[in-house]
Amino acid sequence: MNAEFKVTPWEVSGEVDYDLLVEKFGTKRIDNALLERMSKYGELHPLLRRGVVYSHRDMEWILDRYDAGEKFYLYTGRGPSGHTHLGHLMPWIFTKYLQDTFKVPLYFQLTNDEKFLFNENLTLKDTTDMAYQNLLDVIALDFDPKLTKIMVDTEYIHHLYPIALKVAKRITFSTARAVFGFENSNNIGTIFFTSVQAAPAFLGSELAGKNVPCLIPCGIDQDPHFRVARDIAPVLGYYKPALLHNKMFPGLQGTDKMSSSQPNSTIYTTDPPKLVRKKIMSAFTGGCVSVEEQRKCGGKPEVCSVFKYKFYLFEKNDKKLDELYEKCRRGEILCGECKKSLADSMVTFIEDHQVKREAAKDKVEEFMLRD
Ligand code: TRP
Repeated sequence: MNAEFKVTPWEVSGEVDYDLLVEKFGTKRIDNALLERMSKYGELHPLLRRGVVYSHRDMEWILDRYDAGEKFYLYTGRGPSGHTHLGHLMPWIFTKYLQDTFKVPLYFQLTNDEKFLFNENLTLKDTTDMAYQNLLDVIALDFDPKLTKIMVDTEYIHHLYPIALKVAKRITFSTARAVFGFENSNNIGTIFFTSVQAAPAFLGSELAGKNVPCLIPCGIDQDPHFRVARDIAPVLGYYKPALLHNKMFPGLQGTDKMSSSQPNSTIYTTDPPKLVRKKIMSAFTGGCVSVEEQRKCGGKPEVCSVFKYKFYLFEKNDKKLDELYEKCRRGEILCGECKKSLADSMVTFIEDHQVKREAAKDKVEEFMLRD
């Protein structure tokens, strides 16, 4: 096992041991009993069935409240440091499934403040412009405008600030340093920031004038923010937010996380379809150098990024996915063929997304929360 991996809200590196993270963070694995319970509300999403969304905090409690007639709201977000890639879309697609299944509101936060504070090279204008680019991708996923509200931090701060202040007052520097690893050289905005990311977890309660349960679907890397928020929720008189955690979306070059620092490993929603195809065709598969060898020894679906993409998003049929796995192992399907089939589905997806993304430009104001 690789002890070198690192998972913080600002950095994911190395080969992530997701089981160990559950232990380290103190979350719970989504077990079969919970899956079965969730399947009563609607067909389980493949990301749940396949264990990509794999860990949680208090999901049973959310369902208990829901069964008792107390609806929750969803909260998730995005740090607008660059264009949206498939790794960002995945948890949003999952969030959309939750909204459709439970018919509940969603608050979506764009942390232009965060990305300004944490990135030496980005101006506040850069991160604000990028927030408006990113939110087109959210809208393009067909979220219900009646149930979905999007905020850009600096443009909704009058509502967030009173909550952030209450949160900040309860978090000591020593806690923040222990949880996030801050050092003396950190600017002081970065230290305050977690209280801004916590605020929407309590916003639903503030706006309703009574406690409303909140469920946050997010990458497991974001858990530290909400662990702290959960700790201080009771003293502020709020419910603790519940969480559903997903694993990181893999890159195309065999890395554990699709990342903007590796453009060839990353499919952006704004990439021209031709480029998407090109990136897939040069993806890492772990296959053999020659056709003969591969026919003889078979491929390695467990390390292949093309297989991972089918597993994560592009092959929804479990039976077909299993068949592909077996065929690959037996050397009955070669990497070129497999890449082509992924490229075809990905190009169809991206083309469709880009049409919706264009149309989203006229819908922005329907979704925005502003001070
Ligand atoms: N910090 C997150 C990022 O960098 C953005 C974010 C804000 C978020 N609020 C959230 C992510 C709630 C998940 C859930 O991407």
